[in-house]
Amino acid sequence: MKKNGKILEVQNLKVYFDTEEGIVKALEDVSFSLKRSEILGVIGETGSGKSVTAYTITRLLPQPPGMILEGKVLFEGEDLLKKSENEMLDIRGEKISMIFQEPMTALNPVFTVEEQMTDVISYHEKISKKQAAEKAIRALELVKIPDPSLVMKKYPHELSGGMRQRVMIALALSCEPELLIADEPTTALDVTIQAQILALILEMREKLGLSVIMITHNFGIVSEICDSVAVMYAGNIVEFSSIYNVFENPLHPYTEGLLKAIPPLDKDVESLNVIPGVVPNLIHPPSGCRFHPRCSRKLDICEKKPPKLVELTDGHFVACHNPLGGGKR
Ligand SMILES: Nc1ncnc2c1ncn2[C@@H]1O[C@H](COP(=O)(O)OP(=O)(O)OP(=O)(O)O)[C@@H](O)[C@H]1O
Ligand SMILES: [Mg+2]
Repeated sequence: MKKNGKILEVQNLKVYFDTEEGIVKALEDVSFSLKRSEILGVIGETGSGKSVTAYTITRLLPQPPGMILEGKVLFEGEDLLKKSENEMLDIRGEKISMIFQEPMTALNPVFTVEEQMTDVISYHEKISKKQAAEKAIRALELVKIPDPSLVMKKYPHELSGGMRQRVMIALALSCEPELLIADEPTTALDVTIQAQILALILEMREKLGLSVIMITHNFGIVSEICDSVAVMYAGNIVEFSSIYNVFENPLHPYTEGLLKAIPPLDKDVESLNVIPGVVPNLIHPPSGCRFHPRCSRKLDICEKKPPKLVELTDGHFVACHNPLGGGKR
């Protein structure tokens, strides 16, 4: 199963939504891959397709209105898009877990932490309620919840935001998945708790050999914990490589813009560099390269032809007709 060391290969995903206002062209030709025990950051502004990518991989995309029109999601070499719903029920939780963007929607308000966790654990493993409860406590200990037996008896609304997030991570990890997809797991949290959750994810990678897809719109988070990064813009992956390549040598003008927009610690917010323009509406996306109306390096071809994601240098992928100089700028 360890073919080329990749646990996940997403190939040419095309996902649209059929809405009353028109067809939302949410993902167009999205490809990236993830090695075992690697943490991949998926970054992009709001509406760029990060959550839709996560929902497509886990097959939790609402269909309709969602439509998966093309592509493959190879998990350990098998295409998840070809699995039956029953097969997916086994895969979700046991092999792939997801932490959702909204913790309150993922936890059921009418059940205690214990009820929810033992339910999930006993769905995947034929063990007694008592054994499932012990396993739940171990998962809560793993995410450093103080006094897990007490927290087991609580309802989600009785917990703080940071605590709920830990419970959600414990729930996601309770069946020892191989791949964790974390959709903005720290956005709603204050910086101290945010740092703790990131440290926890790193620790889980060390302890469990977990592979992680970390979705965020924060390059600071990516730089802290990720090994590689996929930059999304308006439904496309525009750049994909190791964290080193992307930070030291960005090839796509959008990536460069995002990097320049990272607030420097020693400057005030007014001196921030923000990419001019707005993210396009995906019912009528710009022709050619979807970034061209905001791009300072635009050529004639950019309005006409969407650029393909190509490997420009070793392991460094970019979708751009006029990429940056690769260090020679
Ligand atoms: N159920 C849906 N019906 C119609 N359009 C949808 C649906 N879900 C997502 N979309 C559209 O798909 C596009 C991508 O949305 P997505 O939620 O993946 O963005 P995101 O990158 O996760 O943004 P954010 O940072 O705000 O979470 C958006 O244009 C969004 O409006
Ligand atoms: Mg999202």
